[in-house]
Amino acid sequence: MWRLVKLYSICFAFCLSVLLILTRTRSAGNTNYLTPELLKNARYFLDLNNRRDAESHPIPTNRQDQTPNIEKILDRTRAKIKFELRDYNFTYSGVQRLEDLVMETNGRPLRNIIISSWRSGTTFLGEVLNAIPGNYYHFQPLLKYGHVQLKRYSQIKTALSSIKSLLNCNFQGMDGYFDYGRQHDFQFSHNTRLWDHCKHNIDLCSDSDFMSKYCKLFPFQSMKILRLRLRFVKQILNDTKLDVKVVFLTRDPRGVMQSRLHRGFCRAAPDCSNAETLCMGMTSDYMAAGRLLKRYPNRLLLLRFEELALNLNSTMQKLLKFLRLEHKQALDEYLNSHTNTEVSGVTSTFRISRDVPFRWKDTLNFEYADRIQATCKGAMKLWGYRIAHNARHMASKDFDPLEPYKVPH
Ligand SMILES: *[C@@H]1O[C@H](CO)[C@@H](O)[C@H](O)[C@H]1NC(C)=O
Ligand SMILES: *[C@@H]1O[C@H](CO)[C@@H](O)[C@H](O)[C@H]1NC(C)=O
Ligand SMILES: *[C@@H]1O[C@H](CO)[C@@H](O)[C@H](O)[C@H]1NC(C)=O
Repeated sequence: MWRLVKLYSICFAFCLSVLLILTRTRSAGNTNYLTPELLKNARYFLDLNNRRDAESHPIPTNRQDQTPNIEKILDRTRAKIKFELRDYNFTYSGVQRLEDLVMETNGRPLRNIIISSWRSGTTFLGEVLNAIPGNYYHFQPLLKYGHVQLKRYSQIKTALSSIKSLLNCNFQGMDGYFDYGRQHDFQFSHNTRLWDHCKHNIDLCSDSDFMSKYCKLFPFQSMKILRLRLRFVKQILNDTKLDVKVVFLTRDPRGVMQSRLHRGFCRAAPDCSNAETLCMGMTSDYMAAGRLLKRYPNRLLLLRFEELALNLNSTMQKLLKFLRLEHKQALDEYLNSHTNTEVSGVTSTFRISRDVPFRWKDTLNFEYADRIQATCKGAMKLWGYRIAHNARHMASKDFDPLEPYKVPH
Protein backbone atom coordinates (compact mmCIF):
# COMPACT_ATOMS: atom_id res chain seq x y z
CA MET A 1 0.00 0.00 0.00
CA TRP A 2 2.75 2.40 1.03
CA ARG A 3 4.56 1.59 -2.22
CA LEU A 4 1.48 2.45 -4.19
CA VAL A 5 1.07 5.78 -2.39
CA LYS A 6 4.70 6.57 -3.01
CA LEU A 7 4.35 5.64 -6.64
CA TYR A 8 1.34 7.86 -7.15
CA SER A 9 2.95 10.79 -5.39
CA ILE A 10 6.03 10.51 -7.57
CA CYS A 11 3.80 10.29 -10.60
CA PHE A 12 1.79 13.28 -9.44
CA ALA A 13 4.91 15.35 -8.86
CA PHE A 14 6.22 14.40 -12.26
CA CYS A 15 2.98 15.26 -14.03
CA LEU A 16 2.84 18.57 -12.21
CA SER A 17 6.35 19.51 -13.25
CA VAL A 18 5.66 18.57 -16.86
CA LEU A 19 2.52 20.68 -16.82
CA LEU A 20 4.50 23.56 -15.35
CA ILE A 21 7.09 23.26 -18.08
CA LEU A 22 4.35 23.13 -20.70
CA THR A 23 2.65 26.21 -19.29
CA ARG A 24 5.91 28.10 -19.15
CA THR A 25 6.72 27.29 -22.73
CA ARG A 26 3.32 28.64 -23.61
CA SER A 27 3.84 31.91 -21.82
CA ALA A 28 7.11 32.21 -23.72
CA GLY A 29 5.06 33.11 -26.78
CA ASN A 30 3.81 29.92 -28.37
CA THR A 31 0.12 30.60 -27.84
CA ASN A 32 -1.72 27.60 -29.20
CA TYR A 33 0.57 25.25 -27.39
CA LEU A 34 -1.68 23.48 -24.93
CA THR A 35 -4.43 22.26 -27.21
CA PRO A 36 -6.79 19.67 -25.73
CA GLU A 37 -5.35 17.14 -28.13
CA LEU A 38 -1.82 17.71 -26.93
CA LEU A 39 -2.91 17.44 -23.34
CA LYS A 40 -4.54 14.13 -24.10
CA ASN A 41 -1.37 12.98 -25.80
CA ALA A 42 0.70 14.11 -22.87
CA ARG A 43 -1.49 12.09 -20.54
CA TYR A 44 -1.01 9.00 -22.69
CA PHE A 45 2.68 9.60 -22.78
CA LEU A 46 3.02 9.96 -19.01
CA ASP A 47 0.83 6.96 -18.51
CA LEU A 48 3.00 4.84 -20.74
CA ASN A 49 6.20 5.97 -19.13
CA ASN A 50 5.33 5.77 -15.49
CA ARG A 51 2.30 4.10 -14.11
CA ARG A 52 2.06 1.33 -16.67
CA ASP A 53 5.67 0.31 -16.42
CA ALA A 54 5.55 0.21 -12.68
CA GLU A 55 2.47 -1.93 -12.42
CA SER A 56 1.99 -5.53 -13.31
CA HIS A 57 0.25 -4.77 -16.64
CA PRO A 58 3.07 -3.17 -18.55
CA ILE A 59 1.34 -3.30 -21.92
CA PRO A 60 -2.37 -2.91 -22.44
CA THR A 61 -4.13 -6.24 -22.76
CA ASN A 62 -7.55 -7.40 -23.87
CA ARG A 63 -9.77 -8.08 -20.92
CA GLN A 64 -11.07 -11.46 -22.07
CA ASP A 65 -7.84 -13.34 -22.70
CA GLN A 66 -4.99 -11.08 -21.56
CA THR A 67 -3.50 -10.95 -25.08
CA PRO A 68 -1.83 -7.64 -25.98
CA ASN A 69 -4.26 -4.97 -27.08
CA ILE A 70 -2.61 -4.02 -30.35
CA GLU A 71 -4.89 -1.07 -31.12
CA LYS A 72 -4.13 0.48 -27.77
CA ILE A 73 -0.38 0.00 -28.15
CA LEU A 74 -0.56 1.68 -31.56
CA ASP A 75 -2.71 4.53 -30.20
CA ARG A 76 -0.28 5.24 -27.42
CA THR A 77 2.73 5.07 -29.67
CA ARG A 78 1.10 7.53 -32.07
CA ALA A 79 0.44 9.86 -29.17
CA LYS A 80 3.93 9.51 -27.81
CA ILE A 81 5.60 10.27 -31.14
CA LYS A 82 3.37 13.28 -31.64
CA PHE A 83 4.16 14.53 -28.17
CA GLU A 84 7.90 14.05 -28.45
CA LEU A 85 8.04 15.83 -31.80
CA ARG A 86 5.69 18.66 -30.88
CA ASP A 87 8.51 21.22 -31.26
CA TYR A 88 10.25 19.60 -34.18
CA ASN A 89 10.78 21.86 -37.20
CA PHE A 90 9.53 19.67 -40.06
CA THR A 91 10.56 22.22 -42.68
CA TYR A 92 14.09 21.18 -41.92
CA SER A 93 13.24 17.64 -42.97
CA GLY A 94 11.69 18.87 -46.20
CA VAL A 95 8.02 18.48 -45.23
CA GLN A 96 5.24 20.47 -43.60
CA ARG A 97 4.07 18.24 -40.81
CA LEU A 98 4.57 14.92 -39.05
CA GLU A 99 1.95 13.09 -41.15
CA ASP A 100 4.04 13.70 -44.26
CA LEU A 101 6.73 11.44 -42.78
CA VAL A 102 4.43 8.72 -41.48
CA MET A 103 3.66 5.73 -43.69
CA GLU A 104 0.39 5.06 -41.95
CA THR A 105 -0.89 8.38 -43.32
CA ASN A 106 0.71 7.82 -46.73
CA GLY A 107 3.77 9.85 -45.89
CA ARG A 108 7.36 8.92 -46.59
CA PRO A 109 9.73 8.55 -43.63
CA LEU A 110 13.30 9.83 -43.66
CA ARG A 111 15.29 6.64 -44.07
CA ASN A 112 18.97 6.23 -43.41
CA ILE A 113 21.25 3.23 -43.49
CA ILE A 114 24.73 2.79 -42.11
CA ILE A 115 26.97 0.55 -44.20
CA SER A 116 30.04 -0.75 -42.44
CA SER A 117 31.73 -3.85 -41.14
CA TRP A 118 32.33 -5.38 -37.71
CA ARG A 119 34.01 -3.27 -35.03
CA SER A 120 34.11 -0.05 -36.95
CA GLY A 121 32.09 2.10 -34.59
CA THR A 122 28.61 1.19 -35.76
CA THR A 123 27.26 0.37 -32.29
CA PHE A 124 28.00 3.91 -31.29
CA LEU A 125 26.72 5.59 -34.46
CA GLY A 126 23.61 3.40 -34.57
CA GLU A 127 22.67 4.26 -31.01
CA VAL A 128 23.25 7.96 -31.55
CA LEU A 129 20.82 7.96 -34.46
CA ASN A 130 18.36 5.89 -32.47
CA ALA A 131 18.44 8.51 -29.71
CA ILE A 132 16.48 10.78 -32.03
CA PRO A 133 12.83 10.84 -30.95
CA GLY A 134 10.50 9.14 -33.39
CA ASN A 135 13.17 6.81 -34.76
CA TYR A 136 12.54 3.16 -35.59
CA TYR A 137 15.83 1.25 -35.53
CA HIS A 138 15.78 -1.77 -37.81
CA PHE A 139 19.17 -2.71 -36.36
CA GLN A 140 20.94 -5.42 -38.37
CA PRO A 141 18.73 -7.22 -40.85
CA LEU A 142 21.45 -9.64 -41.98
CA LEU A 143 22.40 -11.16 -38.62
CA LYS A 144 21.23 -14.61 -39.58
CA TYR A 145 24.07 -14.98 -42.10
CA GLY A 146 26.72 -15.08 -39.35
CA HIS A 147 30.22 -13.66 -39.66
CA VAL A 148 30.41 -13.60 -43.45
CA GLN A 149 30.59 -11.06 -46.22
CA LEU A 150 27.86 -11.86 -48.71
CA LYS A 151 29.34 -12.96 -52.02
CA ARG A 152 26.96 -15.21 -53.93
CA TYR A 153 24.65 -13.37 -56.28
CA SER A 154 21.55 -15.23 -55.09
CA GLN A 155 22.37 -14.47 -51.45
CA ILE A 156 22.86 -10.78 -52.18
CA LYS A 157 19.64 -10.63 -54.13
CA THR A 158 17.71 -12.14 -51.23
CA ALA A 159 19.43 -9.87 -48.73
CA LEU A 160 18.66 -6.73 -50.76
CA SER A 161 15.07 -7.75 -51.14
CA SER A 162 14.61 -8.26 -47.39
CA ILE A 163 16.31 -4.92 -46.67
CA LYS A 164 13.85 -3.20 -49.00
CA SER A 165 10.92 -4.99 -47.40
CA LEU A 166 11.99 -3.86 -43.95
CA LEU A 167 12.49 -0.28 -45.11
CA ASN A 168 8.92 -0.45 -46.39
CA CYS A 169 7.76 -1.84 -43.02
CA ASN A 170 6.67 -4.95 -44.82
CA PHE A 171 7.34 -7.97 -42.61
CA GLN A 172 5.33 -10.49 -44.60
CA GLY A 173 7.36 -13.53 -45.61
CA MET A 174 10.32 -12.56 -43.42
CA ASP A 175 10.43 -16.02 -41.84
CA GLY A 176 14.22 -16.24 -41.62
CA TYR A 177 14.38 -12.86 -39.93
CA PHE A 178 11.76 -13.81 -37.34
CA ASP A 179 13.29 -17.26 -36.75
CA TYR A 180 16.62 -15.67 -35.94
CA GLY A 181 14.99 -13.07 -33.72
CA ARG A 182 13.19 -15.72 -31.68
CA GLN A 183 16.54 -17.21 -30.70
CA HIS A 184 18.42 -13.93 -30.43
CA ASP A 185 16.71 -11.11 -28.55
CA PHE A 186 19.32 -8.58 -29.57
CA GLN A 187 18.02 -8.47 -33.13
CA PHE A 188 15.08 -6.56 -31.62
CA SER A 189 16.29 -5.21 -28.29
CA HIS A 190 18.46 -2.52 -29.91
CA ASN A 191 15.25 -1.17 -31.35
CA THR A 192 14.42 0.36 -28.00
CA ARG A 193 10.98 1.68 -28.91
CA LEU A 194 9.84 -1.68 -30.19
CA TRP A 195 11.48 -3.53 -27.33
CA ASP A 196 9.50 -1.48 -24.82
CA HIS A 197 6.59 -3.70 -25.85
CA CYS A 198 8.28 -6.96 -26.86
CA LYS A 199 10.19 -7.25 -23.61
CA HIS A 200 6.83 -7.84 -21.92
CA ASN A 201 5.52 -10.14 -24.60
CA ILE A 202 8.09 -11.56 -26.96
CA ASP A 203 5.43 -12.93 -29.32
CA LEU A 204 4.73 -9.38 -30.45
CA CYS A 205 8.15 -9.37 -32.13
CA SER A 206 7.24 -12.27 -34.36
CA ASP A 207 3.81 -10.95 -35.26
CA SER A 208 4.34 -9.60 -38.76
CA ASP A 209 1.03 -7.76 -38.76
CA PHE A 210 1.79 -5.91 -35.52
CA MET A 211 5.36 -5.19 -36.64
CA SER A 212 4.17 -3.65 -39.91
CA LYS A 213 1.58 -1.46 -38.28
CA TYR A 214 3.96 -0.40 -35.53
CA CYS A 215 6.85 0.36 -37.91
CA LYS A 216 4.57 2.50 -40.08
CA LEU A 217 4.03 4.97 -37.24
CA PHE A 218 7.62 6.20 -37.19
CA PRO A 219 8.76 9.27 -39.16
CA PHE A 220 12.48 8.38 -38.99
CA GLN A 221 13.82 4.96 -39.85
CA SER A 222 17.40 3.84 -39.44
CA MET A 223 19.22 0.61 -40.15
CA LYS A 224 22.75 -0.59 -39.84
CA ILE A 225 24.01 -3.12 -42.32
CA LEU A 226 27.14 -5.21 -41.98
CA ARG A 227 28.08 -8.07 -44.36
CA LEU A 228 27.22 -6.11 -47.53
CA ARG A 229 29.80 -4.34 -49.66
CA LEU A 230 29.02 -0.77 -50.60
CA ARG A 231 28.78 -1.51 -54.32
CA PHE A 232 25.61 -3.56 -53.80
CA VAL A 233 23.91 -0.62 -52.13
CA LYS A 234 23.41 0.91 -55.56
CA GLN A 235 20.24 -1.10 -55.85
CA ILE A 236 18.86 0.50 -52.72
CA LEU A 237 19.92 4.00 -53.75
CA ASN A 238 18.33 3.37 -57.09
CA ASP A 239 14.92 2.95 -55.50
CA THR A 240 13.58 6.49 -55.72
CA LYS A 241 10.48 5.63 -53.73
CA LEU A 242 12.62 4.72 -50.72
CA ASP A 243 14.82 7.82 -51.03
CA VAL A 244 17.43 6.38 -48.67
CA LYS A 245 20.44 8.29 -47.34
CA VAL A 246 23.53 6.13 -46.91
CA VAL A 247 26.27 6.70 -44.35
CA PHE A 248 29.39 4.68 -45.03
CA LEU A 249 31.51 4.24 -41.91
CA THR A 250 35.06 2.99 -42.09
CA ARG A 251 37.96 2.68 -39.67
CA ASP A 252 41.71 2.14 -39.50
CA PRO A 253 42.26 -1.60 -40.20
CA ARG A 254 44.73 -1.81 -37.30
CA GLY A 255 42.02 -0.60 -34.93
CA VAL A 256 39.43 -2.88 -36.49
CA MET A 257 41.63 -5.96 -36.22
CA GLN A 258 42.67 -5.19 -32.65
CA SER A 259 39.03 -4.88 -31.69
CA ARG A 260 37.97 -8.02 -33.57
CA LEU A 261 40.70 -10.20 -32.11
CA HIS A 262 40.17 -8.87 -28.63
CA ARG A 263 38.41 -11.56 -26.59
CA GLY A 264 38.18 -13.81 -29.62
CA PHE A 265 35.35 -12.03 -31.42
CA CYS A 266 34.89 -13.92 -34.72
CA ARG A 267 38.30 -15.62 -34.67
CA ALA A 268 36.91 -18.71 -36.36
CA ALA A 269 35.34 -16.81 -39.25
CA PRO A 270 37.81 -16.01 -42.06
CA ASP A 271 35.69 -13.17 -43.52
CA CYS A 272 36.03 -11.40 -40.20
CA SER A 273 39.41 -12.42 -38.77
CA ASN A 274 41.44 -11.98 -41.94
CA ALA A 275 43.03 -8.56 -42.53
CA GLU A 276 43.42 -9.23 -46.23
CA THR A 277 39.67 -9.69 -46.65
CA LEU A 278 39.04 -6.56 -44.64
CA CYS A 279 41.33 -4.43 -46.75
CA MET A 280 40.25 -5.81 -50.10
CA GLY A 281 36.79 -4.81 -48.97
CA MET A 282 37.96 -1.33 -48.02
CA THR A 283 39.52 -0.84 -51.44
CA SER A 284 36.42 -2.09 -53.18
CA ASP A 285 34.28 0.22 -51.07
CA TYR A 286 36.47 3.22 -51.98
CA MET A 287 35.97 2.53 -55.68
CA ALA A 288 32.26 1.98 -55.21
CA ALA A 289 32.01 5.22 -53.21
CA GLY A 290 33.46 7.14 -56.15
CA ARG A 291 30.91 5.73 -58.57
CA LEU A 292 28.00 6.23 -56.20
CA LEU A 293 28.97 9.80 -55.30
CA LYS A 294 29.02 10.68 -58.96
CA ARG A 295 25.56 9.29 -59.52
CA TYR A 296 23.95 10.14 -56.16
CA PRO A 297 25.96 13.10 -54.83
CA ASN A 298 23.55 14.00 -52.02
CA ARG A 299 22.69 10.55 -50.86
CA LEU A 300 26.01 9.12 -49.68
CA LEU A 301 28.20 10.39 -46.84
CA LEU A 302 31.63 8.94 -46.08
CA LEU A 303 32.78 8.92 -42.48
CA ARG A 304 35.88 7.68 -40.73
CA PHE A 305 35.24 6.50 -37.19
CA GLU A 306 38.31 8.36 -35.95
CA GLU A 307 36.95 11.68 -37.22
CA LEU A 308 33.67 11.05 -35.51
CA ALA A 309 35.39 10.39 -32.18
CA LEU A 310 37.87 13.27 -32.44
CA ASN A 311 35.42 15.90 -33.65
CA LEU A 312 32.20 14.58 -32.31
CA ASN A 313 30.30 17.83 -32.31
CA SER A 314 31.16 19.05 -35.78
CA THR A 315 30.91 15.60 -37.34
CA MET A 316 27.49 15.06 -35.79
CA GLN A 317 26.31 18.40 -37.13
CA LYS A 318 27.49 17.49 -40.58
CA LEU A 319 25.84 14.09 -40.32
CA LEU A 320 22.50 15.41 -39.08
CA LYS A 321 22.47 18.06 -41.76
CA PHE A 322 23.07 15.40 -44.39
CA LEU A 323 20.22 13.32 -42.96
CA ARG A 324 17.94 16.39 -42.83
CA LEU A 325 17.39 15.96 -39.11
CA GLU A 326 17.03 19.05 -36.99
CA HIS A 327 20.28 19.57 -35.07
CA LYS A 328 19.60 20.68 -31.60
CA GLN A 329 17.10 18.21 -30.32
CA ALA A 330 18.96 15.21 -31.65
CA LEU A 331 22.30 16.38 -30.34
CA ASP A 332 20.91 17.04 -26.88
CA GLU A 333 19.32 13.61 -26.79
CA TYR A 334 22.60 12.18 -27.81
CA LEU A 335 24.63 14.02 -25.21
CA ASN A 336 22.29 12.82 -22.50
CA SER A 337 22.39 9.25 -23.62
CA HIS A 338 25.94 8.66 -24.67
CA THR A 339 27.66 8.30 -21.34
CA ASN A 340 26.06 5.37 -19.55
CA THR A 341 22.85 4.05 -20.91
CA GLU A 342 20.97 0.92 -20.34
CA VAL A 343 19.79 -0.22 -23.73
CA SER A 344 17.04 -2.74 -23.20
CA GLY A 345 18.78 -4.79 -20.61
CA VAL A 346 22.10 -4.71 -22.41
CA THR A 347 24.22 -2.20 -20.58
CA SER A 348 26.24 -0.38 -23.13
CA THR A 349 28.87 1.98 -21.88
CA PHE A 350 30.27 3.54 -24.94
CA ARG A 351 31.93 6.42 -23.25
CA ILE A 352 33.40 7.62 -26.45
CA SER A 353 36.49 9.67 -26.00
CA ARG A 354 39.39 10.80 -28.06
CA ASP A 355 41.46 7.73 -27.12
CA VAL A 356 39.01 5.00 -28.03
CA PRO A 357 39.83 4.84 -31.76
CA PHE A 358 43.57 4.80 -31.07
CA ARG A 359 43.75 2.21 -28.29
CA TRP A 360 45.40 -0.20 -30.71
CA LYS A 361 48.54 1.97 -30.72
CA ASP A 362 49.35 0.80 -27.20
CA THR A 363 48.00 -2.71 -27.28
CA LEU A 364 48.73 -4.15 -30.70
CA ASN A 365 51.87 -6.20 -31.14
CA PHE A 366 54.00 -4.38 -33.73
CA GLU A 367 54.83 -7.51 -35.76
CA TYR A 368 51.12 -8.12 -36.18
CA ALA A 369 50.42 -4.44 -36.90
CA ASP A 370 53.14 -4.49 -39.50
CA ARG A 371 51.65 -7.54 -41.22
CA ILE A 372 48.34 -5.64 -41.40
CA GLN A 373 50.16 -2.62 -42.82
CA ALA A 374 51.84 -4.73 -45.48
CA THR A 375 48.54 -6.31 -46.49
CA CYS A 376 46.57 -3.10 -46.24
CA LYS A 377 48.99 -0.59 -47.74
CA GLY A 378 46.71 0.27 -50.65
CA ALA A 379 43.52 0.53 -48.64
CA MET A 380 45.25 2.60 -45.96
CA LYS A 381 46.55 5.06 -48.51
CA LEU A 382 43.14 5.48 -50.10
CA TRP A 383 41.37 6.14 -46.79
CA GLY A 384 44.15 8.25 -45.26
CA TYR A 385 45.80 6.08 -42.61
CA ARG A 386 49.54 6.54 -42.03
CA ILE A 387 52.00 3.67 -41.68
CA ALA A 388 53.94 3.22 -38.40
CA HIS A 389 57.64 2.48 -38.94
CA ASN A 390 58.44 0.54 -35.78
CA ALA A 391 57.07 -0.30 -32.33
CA ARG A 392 58.32 2.91 -30.76
CA HIS A 393 56.96 5.06 -33.54
CA MET A 394 53.60 3.31 -33.34
CA ALA A 395 53.17 3.90 -29.60
CA SER A 396 54.55 7.42 -29.57
CA LYS A 397 52.27 10.37 -28.88
CA ASP A 398 53.61 12.19 -31.93
CA PHE A 399 52.42 9.55 -34.33
CA ASP A 400 49.10 10.65 -35.77
CA PRO A 401 47.69 7.72 -37.76
CA LEU A 402 45.18 9.94 -39.50
CA GLU A 403 45.87 12.06 -42.57
CA PRO A 404 43.55 13.79 -45.01
CA TYR A 405 42.38 11.59 -47.84
CA LYS A 406 41.08 12.28 -51.29
CA VAL A 407 37.34 11.86 -51.52
CA PRO A 408 36.82 9.34 -54.30
CA HIS A 409 35.29 10.61 -57.50
C1 LIG B 1 12.46 25.74 -39.63
O1 LIG B 1 13.49 25.38 -40.52
C2 LIG B 1 13.54 26.16 -41.69
C3 LIG B 1 14.55 25.53 -42.65
O2 LIG B 1 15.72 25.19 -42.01
C4 LIG B 1 13.85 27.60 -41.32
O3 LIG B 1 13.92 28.39 -42.48
C5 LIG B 1 12.76 28.10 -40.39
O4 LIG B 1 13.08 29.40 -39.95
C6 LIG B 1 12.60 27.20 -39.18
N1 LIG B 1 11.44 27.60 -38.43
C7 LIG B 1 11.47 27.80 -37.12
C8 LIG B 1 10.19 28.19 -36.49
O5 LIG B 1 12.49 27.67 -36.46
C1 LIG C 1 18.16 1.97 -61.76
O1 LIG C 1 16.94 2.50 -62.23
C2 LIG C 1 16.88 2.76 -63.62
C3 LIG C 1 15.56 3.41 -63.94
O2 LIG C 1 14.65 3.32 -62.92
C4 LIG C 1 17.10 1.46 -64.37
O3 LIG C 1 17.09 1.71 -65.74
C5 LIG C 1 18.40 0.84 -63.95
O4 LIG C 1 18.57 -0.41 -64.58
C6 LIG C 1 18.48 0.67 -62.45
N1 LIG C 1 19.78 0.20 -62.09
C7 LIG C 1 19.96 -0.74 -61.19
C8 LIG C 1 21.38 -1.08 -60.86
O5 LIG C 1 19.05 -1.31 -60.62
C1 LIG D 1 28.84 22.18 -30.67
O1 LIG D 1 29.01 23.18 -31.64
C2 LIG D 1 28.07 24.22 -31.59
C3 LIG D 1 28.27 25.18 -32.76
O2 LIG D 1 29.34 24.85 -33.55
C4 LIG D 1 28.20 24.94 -30.24
O3 LIG D 1 27.25 25.97 -30.16
C5 LIG D 1 27.99 23.93 -29.13
O4 LIG D 1 28.19 24.53 -27.88
C6 LIG D 1 28.92 22.74 -29.27
N1 LIG D 1 28.55 21.76 -28.28
C7 LIG D 1 29.45 21.09 -27.58
C8 LIG D 1 28.92 20.11 -26.59
O5 LIG D 1 30.63 21.28 -27.69
